[in-house]
Amino acid sequence: MIDAAGIPGAAVAAVRDARHVCVLTGAGVSAESGVPTFRDAQSGLWEKFDPLDLATPEAFLRDPALVWRWYRWRRDLVAMAEPNPGHVALATLAARIPRLTLVTQNVDGLHQRAGSKDVIEFHGNLFTNRCFAEDCVVDCDAGAEVPVCPGCGSNVRPGVVWFGEAIPEHALDQSFAAAADCDVFLSIGTSSLVFPAAGLAEIAKQSGAIVIEVNPNPTGMSAGFDYAIAGNVGIVLPDLLACTAEVE
Ligand code: OAD
Repeated sequence: MIDAAGIPGAAVAAVRDARHVCVLTGAGVSAESGVPTFRDAQSGLWEKFDPLDLATPEAFLRDPALVWRWYRWRRDLVAMAEPNPGHVALATLAARIPRLTLVTQNVDGLHQRAGSKDVIEFHGNLFTNRCFAEDCVVDCDAGAEVPVCPGCGSNVRPGVVWFGEAIPEHALDQSFAAAADCDVFLSIGTSSLVFPAAGLAEIAKQSGAIVIEVNPNPTGMSAGFDYAIAGNVGIVLPDLLACTAEVE
């Protein structure tokens, strides 16, 4: 059976009956909050900006002021955004089922603002500041053109993971463990192009989980999912939540 938002009944039942749901979210989850994705045609950030100029350690060493201008623009944009019904539905779902692990590639903090707890930030956080030399979180004057570490005087960088950098170890360990342990894995609003995050669904599948994708567009990985639900998070996730409640 498939409901109005295109959710197969078996997918609803899997989520409703799960012992542990692991969720991976990507930029598509925040699209309806007005935060641009990276790769959508026309609106994606990487359609307009070159990540090699803005999102690598080499770019920061070359021109830290340029990198900071771009991240300040993104901070302002996210500060004005509000969580959407997709974020809220995930926070509500977590309170309804025995265990939900939320792993996000997003750096915008909108899951937390929607009420999600213990969010695993796979690619860091837009609003933290890290010392470039010592790689520790610092409290500094983030309004300066290039903020400086109060401890060692080195340049401070935004606390996000850039291309070519390692995923924070605790985030990697917790996410891989959750993917291997869950009985349902939801991949939501991500193009599944960036590894290692995109590999979590495969870990879950090989460990016996039912794997479900939510995305208005097919991805390179859609065929490998048990269910690929075509739709926007703001519609599909509240609907999924309502369906899991209805059959209780
Ligand atoms: P992408 O921009 O690659 O993909 C966003 C996905 O969201 C696409 O597959 C869209 O079809 C989908 N989408 C758009 N609107 C949606 C909506 N309303 N509801 C559901 N899905 C929607 O973003 P990510 O997969 O998150 O990394 O990108 C992964 C990483 O690449 C990012 O974390 C970032 C980027 O470079 C770093 O900065 C390290």
